[in-house]
Amino acid sequence: MIITIWGSQHMAIQFSADFATNLHDENLRKNVLSTVGALCDAAKEISDLCAQGPLISGLGAVTGIENADGDDQKALDVQSDEIIIAKLRQEPVAYYASEEEEGINTLAPGAALSVAADPLDGSSNIDTNVSIGTIFSIFPTAPGAAENSFFRPGNEQLVGGFFVYGPQTTLIVTCGNGVELYVLEPKSGQFVLAVPKLRLAEARAEYGINAANARHWQTPVQLFISDCLTGEPGPLGENYNMRWVGSLVADASRILSRGGIFLYPADNRPGYEKGRLRQLYEANPVSFVIEQAGGMATNGTSRILDLPLSELHQRVAFVFGSNKQVELVRSYFKP
Ligand code: F6P
Ligand code: MN
Repeated sequence: MIITIWGSQHMAIQFSADFATNLHDENLRKNVLSTVGALCDAAKEISDLCAQGPLISGLGAVTGIENADGDDQKALDVQSDEIIIAKLRQEPVAYYASEEEEGINTLAPGAALSVAADPLDGSSNIDTNVSIGTIFSIFPTAPGAAENSFFRPGNEQLVGGFFVYGPQTTLIVTCGNGVELYVLEPKSGQFVLAVPKLRLAEARAEYGINAANARHWQTPVQLFISDCLTGEPGPLGENYNMRWVGSLVADASRILSRGGIFLYPADNRPGYEKGRLRQLYEANPVSFVIEQAGGMATNGTSRILDLPLSELHQRVAFVFGSNKQVELVRSYFKP
């Protein structure tokens, strides 16, 4: 069953009747639906840009500056950020924090929600016709300074989700009552519910990690991957397969579809001591989705969603996926 909400200002999604029904405050739910709707409008525009690829010159061109996290900023990173902020300006959103920007944007002071986003995840794949995406996290606005809305553990998120611009454009999203998967239907131009209760496989002997960093990894990660490579005759007793796209959204989407484990651990390269991925823009929303689909997300020793945040662009070691494989990795971290 499908519901239409509050007029037709957002045409880009047909929400399921279950969407956010765990939010009992009707105004809050209304604000959440409207804001997720705006993000779908933004994602549709970004998806259109991605689909044109080299027909639009310079999408993957480097702007010549590094973003707030020290990555090369591409033209599409900047455009995606601008598209999102333009849509959110019409929404009940007080603050917007973006991986592409140093500080927090104040949009509608006093509004109920605050949004954090990685506007274009997987930017090293922009020019390669490989899946990329947008990741977002919605918090209730906290009283006081703008930072208060973001400097908190991920377990306080109202919504976490991500869009994948791939063979299909999809939205995978949770409000804390399970995970829904929507597909952007090309004909109607709307995100349409495809999987109402997405569940992650309990186990699958498949891992994803950037193995080029093997010599820099922490010992527990080196031992786990070494045992995966040994396969059936080794302590894990089964052969492992390997898949690594290099866009978090695509790797997360694959794991949600068929199980397995993703690892981007901390390592001893300068700047990677706390991992590579960002807690606020990437690990929090992906972890919320993974847990709601029945999986686990950890930094090796602690649950991602319980970690406090003290810097906007804070990095975190990130391991998530099927319960069996994540528990295994956790066991390698135990003294
Ligand atoms: O946003 C960072 C990101 O592009 C992720 O999408 C991806 O998982 C990771 O970086 C890949 O990192 P690396 O290039 O070090 O393998
Ligand atoms: Mn990213």
